[in-house]
Amino acid sequence: MKVACIGGGPAGLFFAALVKRADPRHEVVVYERNRLEDTFGFGVVFSDATEDALRDADPEVTAAMAEKSHRWDDIEIHYHGQTLTSTGHGFSGLSRRTLLEILADRCKAVGAKLCFERDIADPEALDADLVFAADGVNSQVRERYQAHFEPTIDTRPNRFVWLGTTRPFPAFTFYFKGTPHGLWRVHAYQYDRERSTFIVEAREETWRAAGLADVDEAGTIAFCERLFAEELKGHRLISNRSLWRSFPTIRNAHWSHGRMVLAGDAAHTAHFSVGSGTKLAMEDAIALAAALSAHPDVPSALAAYEAARRPPVESLQRAAQASLQWFEDTERYMDLEPIQFAFTLLTRSLRVTHQNLKVRDPEFVAKVDAWFAQKASEQSGVELSTILGRPAAPVPPPAGTAAVSHTPIAVASVPAPAPVPPPMFTPFKLRGLLLENRVVVSPMSQYSAVDGMPNDWHFQHLAARAVGGAGLVFAEMTDVSPEGRISPGCPGLWTRKQADAWKRIVDFIHGETRAKVAIQLGHAGRKGSTRRMWEGDVQPLPEGEWPIVAPSAIPYFPHSQVPREIQRKEMDKVIADHVRAARHADQAGFDLLEIHMAHGYLLASFISPLTNQRTDAYGGPLENRMLFPLEVFEAVRAVWPPEKPMSVRISAVDWYPGGHGPEDAVEVARMLQANGCDAIDVSAGQTVPDQRPVYGRIFQTPFADRIRHEVGIATMAVGNISSYADVNTILAAGRADLCLLARAHMWDPYWTRHAAFELGWPLPWPDQYHSLERFRPRFV
Ligand SMILES: Cc1cc2nc3c(=O)[nH]c(=O)nc-3n(C[C@H](O)[C@H](O)[C@H](O)COP(=O)(O)OP(=O)(O)OC[C@H]3O[C@@H](n4cnc5c(N)ncnc54)[C@H](O)[C@@H]3O)c2cc1C
Ligand SMILES: Cc1cc2nc3c(=O)[nH]c(=O)nc-3n(C[C@H](O)[C@H](O)[C@H](O)COP(=O)(O)O)c2cc1C
Repeated sequence: MKVACIGGGPAGLFFAALVKRADPRHEVVVYERNRLEDTFGFGVVFSDATEDALRDADPEVTAAMAEKSHRWDDIEIHYHGQTLTSTGHGFSGLSRRTLLEILADRCKAVGAKLCFERDIADPEALDADLVFAADGVNSQVRERYQAHFEPTIDTRPNRFVWLGTTRPFPAFTFYFKGTPHGLWRVHAYQYDRERSTFIVEAREETWRAAGLADVDEAGTIAFCERLFAEELKGHRLISNRSLWRSFPTIRNAHWSHGRMVLAGDAAHTAHFSVGSGTKLAMEDAIALAAALSAHPDVPSALAAYEAARRPPVESLQRAAQASLQWFEDTERYMDLEPIQFAFTLLTRSLRVTHQNLKVRDPEFVAKVDAWFAQKASEQSGVELSTILGRPAAPVPPPAGTAAVSHTPIAVASVPAPAPVPPPMFTPFKLRGLLLENRVVVSPMSQYSAVDGMPNDWHFQHLAARAVGGAGLVFAEMTDVSPEGRISPGCPGLWTRKQADAWKRIVDFIHGETRAKVAIQLGHAGRKGSTRRMWEGDVQPLPEGEWPIVAPSAIPYFPHSQVPREIQRKEMDKVIADHVRAARHADQAGFDLLEIHMAHGYLLASFISPLTNQRTDAYGGPLENRMLFPLEVFEAVRAVWPPEKPMSVRISAVDWYPGGHGPEDAVEVARMLQANGCDAIDVSAGQTVPDQRPVYGRIFQTPFADRIRHEVGIATMAVGNISSYADVNTILAAGRADLCLLARAHMWDPYWTRHAAFELGWPLPWPDQYHSLERFRPRFV
């Protein structure tokens, strides 16, 4: 086979060496437009895990790299005059130039041909069965065949410059430096005995205010040496094509076209803050070389390569996206206390969690937990000694304990008790309501009521989860009037009888468990008069429809009932219905009342510009669209007991062009806070059926984080939170005050108890289950 590699970067050189070594009969040529010694950049970073993968593919190259690498374990964070260190991170830095020399030597050793100073202008002209396009971030091959590869380039707003320095940093080092122009971030790491990479990053406006838009490389060096004189400790900065750039995140819908295949930066980029560009490029080379050995022809090898590489690449790009956003928003976190700032930085990409950081650096996590427990004590008024409690002594599993087949949780041994509670097991207070822990059962419609009456199904649903250990259990969206129901199966609070039925459930939970209970009041608006979820979500009823109202006469689906544009008199009735329901909720004994202003129901559809097209005082700008929801809120707040808190669930985004965005959600939260709202329950979407959500692990939490920091109000995070590692991370990083889990709780009513068990934190059982106190099952 004839193989032509365009580009002599890490991807092109490594691939050439691997493919030639795999079968010496292949003719392999690398075309590189520059000389080997012309390379840009300074050092490249590899994690221990990456090195293991490289070693499997080519032990000689990896050994040569290891010999020249500089290793470190620590991350140092310099913040407001303090230095915080976290250890156990296992990285190596290597000079890019050295890496390319090692790879070029390897090519020569195995017989791959290297043609430097050869610019390939026309890949069609190459005499090759396979063209490996590793021509970098500005790939001409990708541009030439863009109709086939369908690239997208997301150019990020921050500015950064890649510099070197003669100061050898002892650890991976971050600086955050405030100046009158704004905040500067530095990412620095050593890559050989006398050199470090020194990346400087700032917001566009900071960079412009500092006058850097008009300076050349020498001007950049002079500016940065002045700004970071203290940090450089007398050392100089070095430039090498060190221009200020905006990071482009590159993705391609397809990675191959005929005999052409994209790899490395040409195919995908990942922000430098996760230090993975070179790693990804080399892993691509390994994967394609392996696919060519395993498959009989080029097309099937290319298909196998893309199938193997796309999932890890996309996963890393998601991590990189979260990380780059953290660096774009760092200003938001500059008031955090140092330990929390460090924790949020370390966990920014979602890959490092409270749980796996504890494995790397238990002391650091112990400090975070101790700090968090102290803060929880101050916030809740609960004595620290009470929060710390008295952890039970470790109990060895009794001899002969049978393995219990259960949920997919596997534990190797009984965990040692934690000296301080993990963040999720600290208290939280809202007005007079004290929650024992921060795990919340999210509201989940059960569609099982008759005439709005909750029944035994609701009893078991809520009681089981309260016994299961959650600090707060939410009853589902409960409607303020019969016409405000989503479906005929939705419960209500428009009658005293309904209040009494709820009271039976609430009394049980209060009497038999340590959980508190919340109610979510709602009016379905244009999504009302629809089927039970399992009969067709938001689909119109086949018979027995009732008239529905909305801010504007726009049906949900084209085939849905057209709502009547609500008039002022009916709006007064909706307010009165909410007030009546709130009174009933208090009589039923609920501890917290939430108003549903999310998911496209009546109040949500006032807030979103997609569903509110009114021309009166309740339509138009956000302040107008918020008028009616605020009227409802105020009226309820006036009758809901002052010692009991109120929250509001919002859809932070509509996930639809022209819809509500995260910046609007901040304003909504601000207005609610000004009217006495205690917490924002931050959900998203479900406003319009053709929404385009970006799902993923804890995908809505960034909105809760933003609202919490920009508004200064308590937030509840919800949406694809399912592991206790994520819950502890979200809380300790200050992304939310409470975590709501819906489907994870449906799956496992004892979710909180399982978390407590695995984290070694004792959670008292009800008396009836006392014999479990010393029983330690082994889950398989
Ligand atoms: C200015 C800059 C500095 C960087 N510094 C660092 C750093 O310090 N540390 C780090 O980890 N990562 C750094 N990166 C990112 C990292 O270099 C890339 O993620 C990684 O090199 C990707 O490898 P690659 O082989 O895909 O592409 P590249 O390394 O970009 O290699 C592509 C090669 O193709 C050649 N080429 C392009 N077009 C043609 C053509 N038509 N004909 C022939 N040859 C061609 C280019 O000259 C280049 O040598 C830097 C990137 C840039 C742009
Ligand atoms: C069956 C079901 C019913 C739901 N009912 C409600 C509801 O009544 N009110 C509400 O605000 N959200 C409701 N939701 C949304 C959940 O509260 C939660 O926001 C969503 O499921 C995302 O969380 P998860 O990923 O933990 O499941 C419901 C979700 C499910 C799965």
